Amino acid sequence: MSRPLPPVVAAPAAPGAATPATDPGHFLRPGTLRLPAPPPLALYVHLPWCLKKCPYCDFNSHGTTALDAATQQRYVDALVADLEASLPLVWGRRVSSVFIGGGTPSLFEPAVIDRLLAAVRARLPLEPGCEVTLEANPGTFERERFRAFREAGVTRLSVGVQSFDDAALAALGRVHDADQARAALAEAASAFETWNLDLMYALPGQTPAQLARELDEALAFAPPHLSIYHLTIEPNTLFAVQPPELPDDDSASEMLDLIAARTAAAGLQRYEVSAFARDGHRCVHNLNYWAFGDYLGIGAGAHGKLSFPERVIRQVRWREPATYMARALEGRAVSNEHEVARAELPLEFMMNALRLREGFGLRLFTERTGLPLSSVLAPLQQARERGLLEWLGEGTADERVRPTARGFDFLSDLTALFLNPRA
Ligand SMILES: C[S@@+](CC[C@H](N)C(=O)[O-])C[C@H]1O[C@@H](n2cnc3c(N)ncnc32)[C@H](O)[C@@H]1O
Ligand code: SF4
Repeated sequence: MSRPLPPVVAAPAAPGAATPATDPGHFLRPGTLRLPAPPPLALYVHLPWCLKKCPYCDFNSHGTTALDAATQQRYVDALVADLEASLPLVWGRRVSSVFIGGGTPSLFEPAVIDRLLAAVRARLPLEPGCEVTLEANPGTFERERFRAFREAGVTRLSVGVQSFDDAALAALGRVHDADQARAALAEAASAFETWNLDLMYALPGQTPAQLARELDEALAFAPPHLSIYHLTIEPNTLFAVQPPELPDDDSASEMLDLIAARTAAAGLQRYEVSAFARDGHRCVHNLNYWAFGDYLGIGAGAHGKLSFPERVIRQVRWREPATYMARALEGRAVSNEHEVARAELPLEFMMNALRLREGFGLRLFTERTGLPLSSVLAPLQQARERGLLEWLGEGTADERVRPTARGFDFLSDLTALFLNPRA
């Protein structure tokens, strides 16, 4: 279970002929793809500060001891300017989900989140019942705070617990202990109808028996949604420089078996590599990433993917918060923008869609990439012959493919087959 979002992208954005922001005419000129209709659109909002940088984390997050009110307001001003400048690229489209991620968004005052969401609603039409997730760290928990986020329009809270073991939390450099995590979960469960618990496994020194206790404790909260990530050592983190002792592969695979068995026994379905949910509680926002939908990403370092009738583009915003705020307020939040090459689209699509346990309908490939299915039939067949993919409803209008149990276990081998298809 690999590390989480941001969504999987095949290659880093090529440094490019950035034509930043936002001349829609530029993207509407003739291209080589044929997208029949725009995909669903989500909004990602990045808030880049945390109380302290964790040694394993390579997200665009910056430790801060105090995030003063003026900085919070200025950052929201920058987000609103960023959104305003982006509107011509998404004109007339409705937003199916909003995700406020970080960093630690729960560091922001609920009143500031309220202002942010009001500004979003005033500029973008949200689908009725639109999912609005906010990421929270138990170290920022106060009793009334979560309810105030709900009052502001947040519908789903994602709580970064990671572990219920104080020694493990200390080894991970977390700012909270297990009791704070328990209190935050109890409050999330009472304030929200749907919420998520983030856990990591294969932690320094962790044994399968210890993980079993972690799972028991997590599942005792009856989370509607659970994300469980294998701790990965990312380049440019403190753990990359001073690597901790991690469980070996046999032990990690025993842990994965434990996770599968315990979550299933608790009535949670594994619908994606790292995501488990009860019926009706899958994450709409993440499902859109995995189904290769569109997302506008605003905020420091945020990534976006937007489709036009004949091309797909990716954008990145300025990464450093102060630079981002200054540039966004001048209407120049985008640092890099490039068109996804035709030859990269099959791999990008498969790296996302094949993470879904149920796979995808074959029609979705053309709807989302604008490429003919013939461009991936050879690797699809190859994957089938190797027992990595299976077909459902073959020959019908609802024909779909999904990874076999083996394909799901060897996802990188499966997706590698789409590296150089005939696009
Ligand atoms: C961007 S963080 C946001 C949540 C919040 N900042 C927190 O940490 O409590 C989202 C999740 O990514 C996971 N994560 C971050 N770095 C990871 C890594 N190197 N390996 C595995 N999971 C990781 C953690 O489970 C974390 O809760
Ligand atoms: S609190 Fe979350 S986002 Fe911040 S440094 Fe730690 S893992 Fe990264």
